[in-house]
Amino acid sequence: MMAGRLAVLRAATQTFSSSHGSRAPVARSGSAFLPSSLAALPRASLRAVPCLLPQKPKATGRSRWVRCMATAAAAADPAELKAARKDIRELLRTTHCHPILVRLGWHDSGTYDKNIKEWPQRGGANGSLRFDVELKHGANAGLVNALKLIQPIKDKYRNISYADLFQLASATAIEEAGGPKIPMTYGRVDVTGPDQCPPEGKLPDAGPRSPADHLREVFYRMGFDDKEIVAISGAHTLGRSRPERSGWGKPETKYTKNGPGAPGGQSWTAEWLKFDNSYFKEIKEKRDQDLLVLPTDAALFEDPAFKAYAEKYTEDQEAFFEDYAEAHAKLSNLGAKFNPPEGFTLDG
Ligand code: HEM
Repeated sequence: MMAGRLAVLRAATQTFSSSHGSRAPVARSGSAFLPSSLAALPRASLRAVPCLLPQKPKATGRSRWVRCMATAAAAADPAELKAARKDIRELLRTTHCHPILVRLGWHDSGTYDKNIKEWPQRGGANGSLRFDVELKHGANAGLVNALKLIQPIKDKYRNISYADLFQLASATAIEEAGGPKIPMTYGRVDVTGPDQCPPEGKLPDAGPRSPADHLREVFYRMGFDDKEIVAISGAHTLGRSRPERSGWGKPETKYTKNGPGAPGGQSWTAEWLKFDNSYFKEIKEKRDQDLLVLPTDAALFEDPAFKAYAEKYTEDQEAFFEDYAEAHAKLSNLGAKFNPPEGFTLDG
């Protein structure tokens, strides 16, 4: 218990005073997981997203069609999404980038505000995170790397929206890491310009004054309940926190100093590329100083209502998988506009 508190405190006092929102410049974190050829990609190639589409002479009908596809890219073809999923699986196999792809999907959708009816003002899974202005939000430090990793897949399947690709990548990463199958829907429409990005500050802080209240404030705004908050937090069974990005975590531990992927950071679990219920076991016991417990993680065993679910997931991985899959699918749909309106599924 004491050791865990020390880990929390140590993390809290490291480098930055802010919590989830890093003050580290995004560009600093340029090489994690990346083959050097990708790490060297100019940032301008991400900034100028609409220009990635084929450039045709403006006067031709073809040009108008191309620009139309840019705005209506969500008229997606299930066959293309399936092919993209195969490519994502290969990317995961070769770069071990599961955690950052999950974080990418979550940070695109987690800006949703259920009290705002209009799309895209309500935020959510709409591909806005591809724009520089949003990537530069403190909470998104490092996610430019995730975008660089999947941009070649986006370039290959142009009818797939960014919003769908982000969520496809995240769900595929969970499944490939050994997690449950997520009942996904596709057909999300992309926002078309950086002016449609959400304001900064919609995502949770890791070290607020009252972590349980803060979690409820942020996740209730998205339409989640206590059970879903605890289940979805279990995503931290994957991945690491890096002080140079979020300000949280140790620069390296015995579990991260050799990678896989770029070495370093502090993970929540020993096997941080394996999706299981070890996150709950570790944040309950807090016995290993090399493992991270953020204040918002600790709150899951401190708040009585959260604790009931956290205890259940510690004991029963099947129950965790079932609730996680539902909560993840809900997260992936937040605020999304689908074309066709009911969306479509890929399997079964
Ligand atoms: C409950 C509130 C949450 C807080 C306060 C929080 C905070 C954080 C922080 C500070 C990091 C470290 C980022 C870095 O330094 O690179 C992180 C990483 C991560 N988060 Fe969360 N998070 C929350 C919820 C979630 C949810 C809902 C998901 C997914 C459904 C998620 C998935 C991840 C993953 C997979 C990583 C590891 C990324 C990597 O290894 O590159 N988090 N989170």
